[in-house]
Amino acid sequence: MAVREQAEMLWMDEGEDQTGFMTAVERSRRRRQLEATQRPALEQERSTRREQPAHQRSGTRDDLAAALERAATGHGGARPLSSGFTGPLPASDEDVPLVHVVEARVTFEDLVLTAENTTLCREIIREYRNRGRLAAYGLRPRRRLLLAGPSGTGKTRTAEALASSLGLPLVRVNLSAVVSSYLGQTARHLERILDFASRSQCVVSFDEFDMLAASRDDSDHGEMRRVATVLLQQLENYASDNLVVATTNHADLLDEAIWRRFDEVLIYRMPTQKQIAQLVKIKLRRFEYKINQEQVAQTMSGLSHAQVEAVCLDAMRAAVLSGAELLTTEDLQSSTAARKKRFREAGKSLG
Ligand SMILES: Nc1ncnc2c1ncn2[C@@H]1O[C@H](COP(=O)(O)OP(=O)(O)O)[C@@H](O)[C@H]1O
Ligand SMILES: [Mg+2]
Repeated sequence: MAVREQAEMLWMDEGEDQTGFMTAVERSRRRRQLEATQRPALEQERSTRREQPAHQRSGTRDDLAAALERAATGHGGARPLSSGFTGPLPASDEDVPLVHVVEARVTFEDLVLTAENTTLCREIIREYRNRGRLAAYGLRPRRRLLLAGPSGTGKTRTAEALASSLGLPLVRVNLSAVVSSYLGQTARHLERILDFASRSQCVVSFDEFDMLAASRDDSDHGEMRRVATVLLQQLENYASDNLVVATTNHADLLDEAIWRRFDEVLIYRMPTQKQIAQLVKIKLRRFEYKINQEQVAQTMSGLSHAQVEAVCLDAMRAAVLSGAELLTTEDLQSSTAARKKRFREAGKSLG
């Protein structure tokens, strides 16, 4: 399916659905609103800084970054975050924030997905948006999703695109803070996160959630299973219809009993040559190029989506710096060869 068609399928739906997708105007209104809630914190930070003599101001960039982070997440203060979230972020027993709330900007137009995943995402968006109608029949939308597949195939980006298509903030779980060597503490952290997330509409992402078991030295299938089971038990009691998206690069660590407890599992694979060609077109869309798509896709075969993106960026950077007016097949082929060589040398043969 052409990328354009995919995008249209996702963005357009029957009448009732169209109104719920965020228009550009609505999106920029929300962005302004979000910025307005963050402004007081930033201004306070700036005025404190102005009162300080220059020599006492240290680590300028880090301080500013920290202020921005605080303003953006509300951690350490009771400022409204965005879209209905108020109060401090949930924190671990060690007082580390357990989540970051972000506004995702990626859309499905930026992604090349399989036809199956495109359809699933479309259905999931539609069910969420029509959850009221479903509830009238005692039904709930599919909301616990597992995205599984190799690294760099678009799992994290899909979670973001789901949030941005629905116009919802993305609550990104900070797994390294969640994990504790005590299962009870991990469970407590997960409970706080779900409690926080149920206060407002949002998409919750447990990115690379296999990490939940990774901090244990004795990490094995058994441990992974126990932690995943705790999470899934909590999700079963989670009253909210908010989407919860877990991603994993290590689907082999999850057994069938775990898979079955998600409402839907989306499988990600390395791109086909046709998908590589679509991907190149998307990645080069702000650039002049004249290429033989088939040849380029063939050269890039074996690369993940993320690696195709990296090659396109390499080629664009080189073209800009050499003053070339347009990108050619040879440019992309030589960038691909250079990347593949570096990967091989790094011991990661791409075949
Ligand atoms: N299916 C895809 N379509 C378009 N770009 C992709 C796709 N998959 C990965 N990318 C690009 O590769 C990078 C890594 O993607 P990500 O979603 O983090 O991969 P994963 O979570 O599967 O490891 C991102 O910058 C993204 O733009
Ligand atoms: Mg990822």
